[in-house]
Amino acid sequence: MSDSLRRVAVIGAGAMGTGIAQVTAMAGWPTALTDARPAALAAARDTIAAQLAGAVDRDKLTREESALVLERTTTPDTVAETCAGADLIIEAVVEDLAVKREVVAEAARHAAPGALVASNTSSLSIAAIAEAVPLPERCVGLHFFNPVHIMKLVEIVVHEGVTEGTRAEAVGLVRAMGKEPIVVRDSPGFASSRLGIALGMEAIRMVEQQVATAEDIDKAMELGYKHPMGPLRLTDLVGLDVRLKIAEYLHETLGGAHFEPPDLLRRMVAEGRLGKKTGIGFYDWS
Ligand code: NAI
Repeated sequence: MSDSLRRVAVIGAGAMGTGIAQVTAMAGWPTALTDARPAALAAARDTIAAQLAGAVDRDKLTREESALVLERTTTPDTVAETCAGADLIIEAVVEDLAVKREVVAEAARHAAPGALVASNTSSLSIAAIAEAVPLPERCVGLHFFNPVHIMKLVEIVVHEGVTEGTRAEAVGLVRAMGKEPIVVRDSPGFASSRLGIALGMEAIRMVEQQVATAEDIDKAMELGYKHPMGPLRLTDLVGLDVRLKIAEYLHETLGGAHFEPPDLLRRMVAEGRLGKKTGIGFYDWS
């Protein structure tokens, strides 16, 4: 089992890829982050620098450590340069199977032979992504949570072809990043989204049926079940459009009335009430 890497390549410098690159660089691994949009790379560098400065201010990191993390993090503008010699590739591009397959295929061509290829997909089949690389048995899901530098959990998603050695290596790497791994079979919604979406859809149905207010439904889970945040506030933070897409996918693949998106959710998405990002969802964020 290896918990030491020569180089990590992260592809997709959005919210997730930026956070993942920060975490791998903080684990001590030289990390290259790239994106199809140059503007995303500039924003990613600023975000990482700001996060590290915040950690220094809060005495969580020394100024020297912060400088080393920034030194370890590069942002080349091609996949070829990003992946050259990398023994871990993590893709965090848009949630689109065709795009992800294209990205991992190109990344694997440039990486070190036998590199571990990971996808941060939140719902897609890892086996389907793995088909695009020469060694599918070296492809797993590494599902991080947002914000990556804070959230402890990483779901390691393993399809049938993944060897015991690869699985153990993934567990070691996640621990070396200071995260807590769980290993989940490649199945729709893995463990986190499957449970989270079932709870979220039911909470929305309860608002629709006027069982209680959004605030009181959230309070039921927060105070009665010790959830740190109720399912409706969480839906507002993730984005109603994002949750609708995942619910549709789970309903299509797993069936079950509990995954069926309620009409209220579809209506709110159609009206642009997407949660925090648009200022209004189940709560007023303006
Ligand atoms: P985002 O939209 O913030 O970032 C995606 C980035 O990928 C963009 O900067 C885009 O320019 C880039 N990109 C698109 N096609 C590309 C290509 N061919 N080559 C290089 N870069 C490309 O999305 P976000 O939220 O960071 O999500 C990324 C992945 O992580 C998705 O698969 C998503 O489902 C998953 N995820 C998202 C979570 C979230 O809370 N946002 C949580 C866990 C997983």
